[in-house]
Amino acid sequence: MKKTILLVGASLLLASNVYAADAEDGTLKSVMQQLGEDYTTLNQAILMADFDRAAQAAHHIAHHDKPSMFQKMKIMAGLRTDMPNFKKADDKVHKLALDIEKSAKAKDMPQLIQQQSNMLSACMGCHTTYRSRVMDILK
Ligand code: HEC
Repeated sequence: MKKTILLVGASLLLASNVYAADAEDGTLKSVMQQLGEDYTTLNQAILMADFDRAAQAAHHIAHHDKPSMFQKMKIMAGLRTDMPNFKKADDKVHKLALDIEKSAKAKDMPQLIQQQSNMLSACMGCHTTYRSRVMDILK
């Protein structure tokens, strides 16, 4: 049973890793720091109505780096049956970022504002439930 869960988790993560590069030092923390920067850039771009820059930042968020296999295995082992939900939270951010990229390219400001606010909720949705827990797992 335990093994099955791990395998399902592993294949979910592997599937999402095909097109993404690995984070520089392989930690989830560095992946998140980059996400934070891209999120800030996106906010700034929206404030300046710089649609090209907004599209670029959203693209980076959608295709963010992945942590190393070692970190992923640790997270999976720690979260166990909650792993699919953790993954779902990540997918939510991914889909929103793709939508934001589309709206930026269409220069649709009202949509952008709405979606960027949904993005903050999506980031914080995962943080509220998992951030400190995963930090403990990765200690
Ligand atoms: C699937 C869950 C999940 C989602 C979605 C998520 N995060 Fe995180 N985030 C985490 C976890 C777990 C940590 C703690 C990592 C650690 O310290 O090892 C974290 C930490 C962070 C940090 C702090 C890094 C540091 O230096 O301590 C920032 C900044 C951050 N996330 C930004 C974002 C942004 C921006 C988004 C949305 C675009 C986002 N995160 C979406 C799980 C998530």
